[in-house]
Amino acid sequence: MDMQVIPAREGNHNLQDYEKTRKNFSWDDMKKNFSWNETGKVNMAYEAVDRHAENPVKKDKIALLYSSPDREEKVTFATLSKESNKFANVLKKYNASKGDRIFLFMPRSPEFYAAFFGILKIGAIAGPLFEAFMEQAVRDRLQDSEAKILITTPDLIDRVPQAELPNLEEIIIIGGNVENEDQYIDYQQEMEAASEEFPIEWVDLEDGMLLHYTSGSTGKPKGVYHVHNAMIQHYATAEWVLDLKEEDVYWCTADPGWVTGTSYGIFAPWLLGVTNVVRGGRFTPDDWYQTLEKNKVTVWYTAPTALRRLVSTGQGVLDKYDLSSLRHLLSVGEPLNPEVITWGLKAFNLRIHDTWWMTETGAQLIVNLPSLEIRPGSMGKPIPGIEASIVDNEGNEIPPNQMGNLAIKAPWPAMMRKIWNNPSKYESYFINGWYVSGDSAYKDEDGYFWFQGRLDDVINTSGERVGPFEVESKLIEHPAVAEAGVIGKPDPVRGEIIKAFITLNDGYENSEELLEDIRRFVKTGLSAHAAPREIEVKDSIPKTRSGKIMRRLLKSWELGLPTGDTSTLEE
Ligand code: WT7
Repeated sequence: MDMQVIPAREGNHNLQDYEKTRKNFSWDDMKKNFSWNETGKVNMAYEAVDRHAENPVKKDKIALLYSSPDREEKVTFATLSKESNKFANVLKKYNASKGDRIFLFMPRSPEFYAAFFGILKIGAIAGPLFEAFMEQAVRDRLQDSEAKILITTPDLIDRVPQAELPNLEEIIIIGGNVENEDQYIDYQQEMEAASEEFPIEWVDLEDGMLLHYTSGSTGKPKGVYHVHNAMIQHYATAEWVLDLKEEDVYWCTADPGWVTGTSYGIFAPWLLGVTNVVRGGRFTPDDWYQTLEKNKVTVWYTAPTALRRLVSTGQGVLDKYDLSSLRHLLSVGEPLNPEVITWGLKAFNLRIHDTWWMTETGAQLIVNLPSLEIRPGSMGKPIPGIEASIVDNEGNEIPPNQMGNLAIKAPWPAMMRKIWNNPSKYESYFINGWYVSGDSAYKDEDGYFWFQGRLDDVINTSGERVGPFEVESKLIEHPAVAEAGVIGKPDPVRGEIIKAFITLNDGYENSEELLEDIRRFVKTGLSAHAAPREIEVKDSIPKTRSGKIMRRLLKSWELGLPTGDTSTLEE
C-alpha cells in the first residue's frame, strides 16, 4: 500500500532544521532562556506570570481569554500576578507552606488560575482534580497525597468527603456564599482582605510543583509527581512543537485535571507570554467552532476524539464559521486517524500534528513538527534532546519495523520524579536505563514512530485514561454485583468505550433497569467518564488460578479473536 506523505509546511518555523538542532542540542543550553540560569533558584509561577507582569511592554497583555456558557473575562499578566499574590497570602494565613499538597477541585475559571499560581508561589504542590470526579475518586486522591487544603466550589462541595481525611485542615470555597463559616473559608472574603504583594518562595529546580493522579492496570490511581525543572521542556516544546510566537492566540482544549491541561493549557503558553484561551463547559461542535472564530485562535491543541466528533458533524456546521485565523493544529491523547488528517487538510487547509507523551513524561516527546513531512498514522519523531527507541522486555533495542515497547532514554527535564508514596512503582517503569511506556509501537527506517496499542489493560476513552481496577472495585460495591471484569472496547468516535462483564449475586435478575442502576452507581460514585457504557451479565468471570481477572480473555471474546494462551485459567 502506498502511503500518502504530507510535505513539510511552508514558511518560517521556530524549529527550522530538525536534524541540525538535534545534533548540536543540549538541555543545558536551553537553560540560558531563563532568569534563574545564574542563581539556580526558581519558581514556575515567576517564569510563567510575574516575569511578564514586571515587563512594562508585557504587563497589560491579555494572558487569559476566558469564556464559559455564562461568563467571559479577559485577564492580563499584571492582574494574574496580583491575584495569585493575594491567594498566596491567603494560603500563608492558613499555615500552608512549601511542600504541602493543595488540591483544586473545581471547573476552569479565572479564579482557578489565580489559585493555581498562588499555590506554586508559596512553593507548595498543586493537585488539580477533574470536576467530574465523584466522592470516592476525590477521597482516594486526597488521602493518598495527604492533602492539607482543598479549594472547591459550592456546586462540588457535596462530593467532598467529610470524614476519613485526617490531614485535610481547610476547605476554601470559591464563588458562593459560605454558610457554615466554622467549616469553610470564603475565598471572596479572604481575597478582599489579602495584600497584593507577596515575596515569592524561590525553590530548587528539583522541588515539587504538581501531582497528577493517573490510572494503571492495577490498584488505585497513582500520584505522578512533577518538579519545577519541567519548565525547560515546556518552554522548548512551546517553541518547537506548538510553534508559538508573540502574537499568537493559543487554545488548548484540555482540562487542567489532566496533564495536557497543565503542561500545555498553563505552562507552555505562559512561559512564552502568549495569550491563552480557556473555554469552560462541555464540548459541542458549534461551541468549539465559535470559540475558535470569536477569539481568532491561531494555534489549536486538541484531541482525536473531539476532531472525530467534528468530522461526523459535517461540512454544514463548519461552513457557518470563519476559521481563517487558524495557522497550526495539534492533537494528543490517542491515535490520530489518517482520515482525520485528510479531513483537516480539506476543512482548514492545514496539517494536524500528532504528538505523543504521557502523564508520567510531563511533556511532549515524540511529535510531528511543522518543518517535517507527516506520515499519516505516525506519531512523528523524538524532539531534540530526547532519545526514543523500541526495546524488548529486557530493555534491549530492537531493529526497525519490529513491534516492541516504546521506550525513552531516562532522564529528561519534564520526567516525573516519583510516584507519590510508592517508590517501587516508580522503579518499575525503568529497565536498563530506559523508561518503558506501556505502549507498543515500531519505528520505521527513517525514524518515524508508529503507535500500535497499550500493552497493559489501561483503557483510553475519549483520550482519558481509565484503570479497569478502579471501575471493577466500584462495580462490586453495588449490592447486585458479585464479580466484575472491565475492558476497553474499540469505538469509532471515542477510541474505546468502557465495557463491564459482571456476575450477579443470588436473588438478582438481569434486567435493563438493573444494568442502568449499576451504571448510574459507578457514574455517581466514581466519575462520569469511568462509567461503563456497556454491561454484560455472565455466569462467571474468567480468572487465573491466583484470582486475577483475565481481561485479555474478556477482550478476545468481545472482539471474536482467538483466545491465545489460557493455561493459567482457573477451571
Ligand atoms: C497514554 C497516556 C499526555 C497526553 C495525554 C494522555 C496514549 C497519548 C498518543 C498519541 C497514540 C497516545 C498512549 C499513552 N497516547 N498520546 N499521539 N497516539 N496514543 O496522557 O492520560 O497519561 O495517557 O495515552 O497510550 O501511553 P495519559
